[in-house]
Amino acid sequence: KYIGRTQIMKVFITRRIPQEGMKILSQAGVCKVSLWDSDETVPRAELLKGVAGAHGLLCLLSDKIDTEVLDAAGPNLKVISTLSVGFDHMAMDEIKKRGVRVGYTPDVLTDATAELTVALLLATARRLPEGVVEVKNGGWSTWKPLWLCGYGLSGSTVGVIGLGRIGMAIARRLKPFGVKRLLYSGRTAKSYAAEVEGEYVPLDTLVSESDFVVVSCALTPETQGLCNKDFFIKMKNTAVFINTSRGAVVNQEDLYQALSSGQIACAGLDVTTPEPLPTDHPLLTLNNCVVLPHIGSATYSTRGIMAELSANNLLAGLQGTDMPSELKF
Ligand code: NDP
Ligand code: DGY
Repeated sequence: KYIGRTQIMKVFITRRIPQEGMKILSQAGVCKVSLWDSDETVPRAELLKGVAGAHGLLCLLSDKIDTEVLDAAGPNLKVISTLSVGFDHMAMDEIKKRGVRVGYTPDVLTDATAELTVALLLATARRLPEGVVEVKNGGWSTWKPLWLCGYGLSGSTVGVIGLGRIGMAIARRLKPFGVKRLLYSGRTAKSYAAEVEGEYVPLDTLVSESDFVVVSCALTPETQGLCNKDFFIKMKNTAVFINTSRGAVVNQEDLYQALSSGQIACAGLDVTTPEPLPTDHPLLTLNNCVVLPHIGSATYSTRGIMAELSANNLLAGLQGTDMPSELKF
């Protein structure tokens, strides 16, 4: 348990993570790592067992880190490092009360997530999944002037809800497509929005004037269910709705109604409630809804860098030094 006078600390990792992160932890020689050695979510009972007495916890967005987990960990726990930028899966008040430090992975996944958002927006607006199916099932009979038409970005108004790191990276990528107006909403105006000629507007203005509404805000009590019936009613009938933030920002029953009644044109979602979305979910019956399995940050290099960062955050938390990315809350 000790090397010289240094105590070896116990760490629990809730999933198989990229080797880049594991290597950093094993080479550091300051902790004994136990791992839920699977690609699937750790069962709750195993999480509670694995975390018992741990000094450090490396978790994922699919692990609910609440009072029960913190109690199971006990007073040794110094640091929680999450392999994500989102932290809505963690009971921050309880964590703060116990003086536990938190590391997360901002910035390193911004480009990958913005890129995926643009890909989803184009796939949804230009109906790529429907086209692919038609080619395979024989529905492609000839070139038809009125077939599989969608919506283009050129000359359009795009509204970004939450112009943070990812929102801004999305805006930067969309502008060169010929976007005419770039609107954004959030709690405060951003000076850096000038780079994309972003106009800070009330949410209602954004929703009613945008041809593309892109949600990239954090999930908080204020944003939970933000995109509901009232929201969709204000959107244009020709508007495209894209969400790559968290599923719970959207009321999915209201979205289903909006899509099936023609209230809005189409939607692309990288995030849902729950995840995975059950295969018999009504949204999956709609041609005008494209659903992806939460792959915003899923490039090999990004996931490797996220693993490195979360390992380094964990080590710093164990050793009481500065973290590369500490969440201040
Ligand atoms: P940031 O903290 O940089 O940005 C979050 C944005 O949310 C801020 O601009 C903030 O605006 C906005 N926001 C907070 N509260 C509200 C509100 N009440 N109304 C409107 N906007 C609000 O985070 P990132 O850009 O790095 O990440 C954003 C989110 O994206 C993450 O929290 C995560 O949920 C999600 N994500 C999803 C991924 C995926 O795989 N699909 C990958 C990575 C992240 P303001 O500053 O004005 O308060
Ligand atoms: C995050 O980091 O919050 C994403 O949802 C996954 O990368």
